[in-house]
Amino acid sequence: MRRFVVGAMIATTSQIVIANASDESQSINSGRAKSGRAAYEQYCSSCHGAKAQGAPNWQERDANGELPAPPHNAEGHTWRHSDVDLYEMVNKGWRDPFNRTKQLTMPAFGGVLSPEQVRAVITYLKTLWTPEQTQFQLEESQGHSFPSEGQ
Ligand code: HEC
Repeated sequence: MRRFVVGAMIATTSQIVIANASDESQSINSGRAKSGRAAYEQYCSSCHGAKAQGAPNWQERDANGELPAPPHNAEGHTWRHSDVDLYEMVNKGWRDPFNRTKQLTMPAFGGVLSPEQVRAVITYLKTLWTPEQTQFQLEESQGHSFPSEGQ
């Protein structure tokens, strides 16, 4: 755990407020998370659920051999991906490589959301994780931050 804390302190550009890392609701830059929540409700909740709880039976392939939309909360695995990977998944879309079909089951939002909206919606998802998951994801994002951060 110490390794994660040190990593978090090095991340000076991060939106995470280290002192409040154990308080999920306050650990994320609130303005960005708030606008991200609005974008989530408009563009993502239809598949990932109003409370980001995922589609029913999300762990099992459906009749087409495709994985349904997973949760983004602490029950899911979104927190295992770095900022750049999450950004690319939302921007360019995604499908599990083992899906039977080739269609992008996770649609590309690059033409729909601005880069700042993509960052904001991911920032909102970060408010749904446990402190440990947040620390893990912060560590994963060292050197793998959002591509257009700072623009
Ligand atoms: C049409 C339904 C649909 C919509 C709308 C949708 N998604 Fe998805 N999303 C999926 C599916 C299905 C997957 C699982 C893809 C797979 O792994 O095969 C997924 C996967 C993801 C993943 C990867 C999670 C992981 O741990 O592998 C992220 C991140 C994600 N979606 C974010 C979003 C965001 C943010 C939005 C809104 C901007 C959104 N999705 C809108 C269907 C959707």
